Amino acid sequence: MVDFTKQPADKGFFAPIRFEADVYDCEVIGKVPTDMNGAFVRLGGDWLYPSNFKDDVPFNSDGYISMFRFKNGTVDFKGRWVKTERYQKDLAANRQLYGYYRNPFTDDPSVRDPEHPNRRTVSNTTPLAFAGKLYTLKEDGLPYQINPKTLDTIGTHNFDGKWHSQTFTAHTKLDPVSGELIAFGYEATGLASDDVFVYTLDKAGQVVHEARFKVPYVSMIHDVALTQKHVIFPVFGYVTSMERLKAGKEHWVWDSSKPMYIGILPRGSDGKDIRWFKGPERCMVHTCNARTEGNRVILEAPIADSNQFPFFASIDGSPWNPQKARHYIRRLTFDLSSKDDSYKEEIIIPNQSITDLIRIDQRYLSLPYQYAYAGYNDPNRPFDEARAGNLKGRVQNCYGRFDLRSGKIDAYFAGDSHSLQEPYFVPRAKKGAEGDGYLVGVASNFAEMRSELIIADAQHLEAGDIARVILPFRASSQVHGIWVDEDQLPFA
Ligand SMILES: [Fe+2]
Repeated sequence: MVDFTKQPADKGFFAPIRFEADVYDCEVIGKVPTDMNGAFVRLGGDWLYPSNFKDDVPFNSDGYISMFRFKNGTVDFKGRWVKTERYQKDLAANRQLYGYYRNPFTDDPSVRDPEHPNRRTVSNTTPLAFAGKLYTLKEDGLPYQINPKTLDTIGTHNFDGKWHSQTFTAHTKLDPVSGELIAFGYEATGLASDDVFVYTLDKAGQVVHEARFKVPYVSMIHDVALTQKHVIFPVFGYVTSMERLKAGKEHWVWDSSKPMYIGILPRGSDGKDIRWFKGPERCMVHTCNARTEGNRVILEAPIADSNQFPFFASIDGSPWNPQKARHYIRRLTFDLSSKDDSYKEEIIIPNQSITDLIRIDQRYLSLPYQYAYAGYNDPNRPFDEARAGNLKGRVQNCYGRFDLRSGKIDAYFAGDSHSLQEPYFVPRAKKGAEGDGYLVGVASNFAEMRSELIIADAQHLEAGDIARVILPFRASSQVHGIWVDEDQLPFA
């Protein structure tokens, strides 16, 4: 018997859905482009059983993968739990056996295993399609492999035993020039360990290179950035320790006294020559893009001044500051010929704060580029406050295309009863000019209490959407989504 009245999950639009779904030939408003063949694959969390802790965080909900499958102008929808070891053990016990997010010391004795914290992953953050396989990723565990046709869970994957980190990032980087995948794991040798292992996988999905280094302090390294010559690792504010985990506390706490460190690792290095730069308190969970120009490494990212997550406490007990949690797109420039460890920071789009779920045309990753895409809230647009319910105050009613050279913003407005989840840019063809393609993303329609997949022309966002794929229910909430071309995975 499940009782959700005492657990911390969202109410209203993002209340747990707890069902698997198949919708064939979905209702569409408008016309789905016939040159979009493949799938928009989303991953997020949905609570199978309520958390045991009122102050647990949404990152601890069970992985749920869904797919909008596009074929010649029609779209099918499929949603499945990621059937992790944890999901299966909970279901067998008919209750939540696991404790806080990333703290195995708070688990039920029947499953408690602090030596192997990766076994309790919920695998709920980013889908990955690589070398003909589909995976679900979360940074505290190994990837789960998923059947791309059925979305059934196959099991964990360790790349023929050549992946030596206990963990695998949710943010891999595909080099569009070489076809290599750069991936890493932090807390690589166990809970609160300061080891980071970095891997290069070739086009066939084989591990071909490993680097290892230690961080200045143990921190959340959720995302990195890639250039043609370097991999860039941010270390900032969120801290942890074995002491706090053994004391039964949440994994992360924000320490505003910690400087941000940026590690720049030459690609192909074994890790010994990583160079650390140091700056003031900042929060940079996601990156946008980066490039190496001569002796300079240039990184663009949505960056906040301080703790962006209201649900992670401050180590000094100070209250969460929503002003300091706002993200602006900033450019950091690192001079590799300099003798000191400082870097230059500029805010390049100062007139609009954004969500940090930012995307680019992936064909331009690690290369010079012009556009970034992200959701944001425009308070000057019409808004149906009465219907917003629990979404009030965290509505993203626009997708913006941000021109990082001119500062111009082109906006797509979703409607007065809609909030937008992360956008994804889908190129019209394998090769072509940057930005020629579609912007897709799921809107939460809180007037109709249903989810809608938006498809817009990325070069004409002001014109509104080309099509909306309608689901007759609230889809489970998404962290990240990806577009997968028809020929990337064996869908049939
Ligand atoms: Fe992420």
